[in-house]
Amino acid sequence: MLKVLGITILLSLSAAVSATSVADSHTEMAGCESCHKDGTPSADMSYENETCIECHGAMNELEGDEHKQHDGIITCSDCHVVHETPSASESCANCHQP
Ligand code: HEC
Ligand code: HEC
Ligand code: HEC
Ligand code: HEC
Repeated sequence: MLKVLGITILLSLSAAVSATSVADSHTEMAGCESCHKDGTPSADMSYENETCIECHGAMNELEGDEHKQHDGIITCSDCHVVHETPSASESCANCHQP
C-alpha cells in the first residue's frame, strides 16, 4: 500500500514538474526566439548556449555540483538536450560509464 502510494506521488509530481521538454516550456514562455536567433537554429549552438547563460547564469554560478564539475569543459546543451527531455540527468551516460 505504501509502495503504491509512493508511485502515485512520484507520477503526479513528474506530471506537474516535467511533463514537457525544456524547449517546450521555454517556447510557451517566450517562443523559439528565446533561444534561436530569429527562431532559426545556428550551426554550432553557440548562440543558443549563450542565451542560456544570459538568463540562468554561467556554469560556475549555477547551483549543483554537476555544473561546477564541468565548468569550462562542456556547455549547457551537452547535458540539457532541451528538445528531448526535461531532465539533464539522462545525458550522463552519453559520456561517462554508468
Ligand atoms: C530553451 C531553448 C530553446 C527553445 C525555446 C527552442 N530551442 Fe530548438 N534547440 C535548442 C538547442 C539547445 C538545440 C540543440 C539540440 C538540443 O539540445 O535539443 C536545438 C535544436 C533545434 C533544432 C535542430 C537543429 C539542428 O541543427 O540539429 C531545430 C530544428 C530547432 N531547435 C527548432 C526549434 C523551434 C522551431 C523552436 C520553437 C517551437 C525551438 N527550437 C525552441 C534550444 C531551444
Ligand atoms: C529568455 C530567458 C531564458 C532563456 C534564453 C533560457 N531560459 Fe531556461 N528558464 C527560464 C525561465 C524564466 C525558467 C522558469 C523559471 C526557472 O526555473 O528559473 C526556465 C527554466 C529552465 C529549466 C527548468 C525546467 C523547465 O523546463 O522549466 C531548465 C532546465 C532550463 N531553463 C534550462 C535552460 C537551457 C539549457 C537554456 C538554453 C538552451 C535555457 N534554459 C534558456 C528562462 C530562460
Ligand atoms: C554536466 C551536465 C550539465 C551541464 C553541462 C549543465 N547542466 Fe544544468 N543541470 C544538470 C542536472 C543533472 C540538473 C538537475 C536537474 C535535471 O536533472 O535536469 C541541472 C539543473 C539545471 C537547472 C535547474 C532546473 C530545475 O529543475 O530547476 C537549470 C536552470 C540549469 N541546469 C541550467 C543550466 C545552464 C544554463 C547550463 C549551461 C551554463 C547548464 N545547466 C549546464 C546538468 C547539467
Ligand atoms: C558531453 C559529455 C559529458 C556529459 C554529458 C557529462 N559529462 Fe561529466 N565530465 C565530462 C568531461 C569531459 C569531464 C572532465 C574529464 C573527466 O574528469 O572525466 C567530466 C567530469 C565529470 C566529473 C568530475 C570527475 C572527476 O574526476 O573530477 C563528474 C563527477 C561528472 N563529470 C559527472 C557527470 C554527471 C553526473 C553527468 C550528468 C548530469 C555528466 N557528468 C555529464 C563529460 C561529460
